[in-house]
Amino acid sequence: MIKRQTVKLPDGTVLPAIGQGTWHIGDDPSKRNTEIAALRRGVELGMHVIDTAEMYGEGLSEELVGEAIHGIRDEVFLVSKVYPHNAGKNRMITSCEQSLRRLKTDHLDLYLLHWRGDIPLAETVEGMERLVEDGKIARWGVSNFDTKDMEELLRVKNGDHCMVNQVLYHLGSRGIEVDLMPWHKERNIPLMAYSPLAQGGSLRKELVQNEIVTKVAAKHNISPFQLLLAWCVRSGQVLALPKSSSEKHVKENAAAYEVMLTKEDLEQLDHAFPAPSNKVPLDII
Ligand SMILES: NC(=O)c1ccc[n+]([C@@H]2O[C@H](COP(=O)([O-])OP(=O)(O)OC[C@H]3O[C@@H](n4cnc5c(N)ncnc54)[C@H](OP(=O)(O)O)[C@@H]3O)[C@@H](O)[C@H]2O)c1
Repeated sequence: MIKRQTVKLPDGTVLPAIGQGTWHIGDDPSKRNTEIAALRRGVELGMHVIDTAEMYGEGLSEELVGEAIHGIRDEVFLVSKVYPHNAGKNRMITSCEQSLRRLKTDHLDLYLLHWRGDIPLAETVEGMERLVEDGKIARWGVSNFDTKDMEELLRVKNGDHCMVNQVLYHLGSRGIEVDLMPWHKERNIPLMAYSPLAQGGSLRKELVQNEIVTKVAAKHNISPFQLLLAWCVRSGQVLALPKSSSEKHVKENAAAYEVMLTKEDLEQLDHAFPAPSNKVPLDII
């Protein structure tokens, strides 16, 4: 049997370690059908965690996701995010209801605070808990929280109901390995990795063209992109969220969670792209 990497949430829910991101999906109407087909193909292939946000295209991404999951809602683990300025206990209810309308569903499987703003964490947690009680969300978490933010969160009432923290993480950005990742591991709260393929641009080029990356990828008969994903989810503590508007790429990404890297592979990759030895500020897009 093929072993697939999974991640377990604190409430016992087990998820495949690779899901689908949707930032910029829905921005261009001419790509609509292709993007819907890509998302649906991803779900078929087991990437049933779909991550969106009210911020993405100011609702356009949620609308497209709503269309893509029509008829298959029960197969999808749906994640959306609230803007920090909407994360007060009353506005958050309205924001969530608007997301639900755009997504054409009656509940989210996970709702995240997109990043930390000025609203006290206690108030945001109160709003999240109310949404859970009302059945509008099944669980909640945060995004772009560094270790100090997580510690503060766990000190507020019901803060320990947080299921996940979504942060930037890829082979070229390993700062979270210094203290945030160990902090999460100790408490069994998984991380979601955004931009696991380093988005685009020069850093991504540096990663996928690197001699060691291409050598290790060739050894496993996979592409450098698949290697980046397999590396990202190697610990069982991280769920990666690559975004793709292409069915070909989606197929490639879905196959990556069957790749198990060896100790030797990881040592070589560590050598090429070492984690920092001291705390660095959280990378944020
Ligand atoms: N919480 C936050 O603050 C936050 C911030 C940023 C992102 N996110 C989430 O994380 C998701 C992923 O991050 P991201 O969109 O920034 O970047 P990413 O997933 O690292 O990279 C996306 C880019 O990679 C390409 N790609 C995907 N699969 C590929 C493959 N197999 N081969 C070659 N190219 C491939 C995509 O092009 P194609 O579309 O052509 O495949 C796209 O250009 C977002 O969509 C969003 O859901 C969250």
